Amino acid sequence: MKSKIEIQRVEKSKIDSVDFDNLPFGSVYSDHMLECDFKNGEWQTPVIKPYSPITLDPSAKIFHYGQSIFEGMKAYKDADENMMLFRPLENCKRLNKSAERLVIPPIPEDIFMEGLTKLLEVDSDWIPKNEGSSLYIRPFIFASGNGFHASPADAYKFIICTAPSGAYFAGKVKVLIEEKFARAANGGVGFAKAGGNYAAQFYPTQLAIEKGYNQVIWTDDNTHQFIEEAGAMNIFIRINDTLITSPTSDRILDGITRKSILQIAKDAGISTEVRKISVGEVVEAAKNGTLKEMFGTGTAAVISPIAGFGYQEKDYDLPELDNPFAAQLKKQITYIQTNKAKDFYGWRVFV
Ligand code: PLP
Ligand code: COI
Repeated sequence: MKSKIEIQRVEKSKIDSVDFDNLPFGSVYSDHMLECDFKNGEWQTPVIKPYSPITLDPSAKIFHYGQSIFEGMKAYKDADENMMLFRPLENCKRLNKSAERLVIPPIPEDIFMEGLTKLLEVDSDWIPKNEGSSLYIRPFIFASGNGFHASPADAYKFIICTAPSGAYFAGKVKVLIEEKFARAANGGVGFAKAGGNYAAQFYPTQLAIEKGYNQVIWTDDNTHQFIEEAGAMNIFIRINDTLITSPTSDRILDGITRKSILQIAKDAGISTEVRKISVGEVVEAAKNGTLKEMFGTGTAAVISPIAGFGYQEKDYDLPELDNPFAAQLKKQITYIQTNKAKDFYGWRVFV
């Protein structure tokens, strides 16, 4: 970084207007944000400033060609006021993987990490301590440079905003296995956290919601025979006592929660398999009673149990188990994230 990060503080904090006992997900924003410009071929020194609107030219390329990528992370606080992040460098690396695919200049690790750390120090009072709540962190980069020429922009903005948040889903979700639409294709941008991937999900998801489901289970774009992701989460399927998840590919986001859960499950003695899993196998397992659990994993939702799924106009319910893997694994990962358990993996990073 060329110089010290400048901090412009709010005149009056909004924090007293926030009900920390009833936090929604991602719609109440902390006092400050970090903003950093890419211009003249390099990233400038970021500033931390009051959370405020951004002014852009109508010809900014983000509006026309969708060069936009983001990350999702969380900060936690324990009873002793220690502030923690979970595997933050993984988010920085993935942001830069997404950046490469969308021809966005990579963000230097020191800007990402020092910027984030300083922002969290400035807004430390905004990190919730209640169980089930955390400070959701949204780093993002978009093309702020102008022009209708369909080519990469010459200017970008990297911003980090934070939002004290409660649960993403209120309870178990009912999902629809997708037979027609796809969120990603071979050779496409599915592995990147590109804004456009989510825009492409809205229409099929809306159709599923109209039919009474909460989310779509994405299948491969070619045959729709293989299970890929669960909405904006990776998916785990338990058949008998084996936990199965699809391998990552250029269609699937390499989720940080997914790989952490795989590791925790293995170390807890749970049999795990990373392999392609067909819709036929899941339907068959539901019919013969060997399908025990399905759940999604992601930063926002942590672990979201699935109550049942729809496929070819039929609904299949999952059994109610006494001590499901989903609950056991959720407890373990959140205990690591919130400093309630020993972190043998070195995943927890104190701010
Ligand atoms: N898959 C998609 C499409 C996502 O948007 C997310 C959310 O970040 C995930 C999976 C889970 O990734 P992570 O566990 O890194 O949050
Ligand atoms: C996350 O889990 O952090 C995500 O980015 C998913 C998002 C669509 C809420």
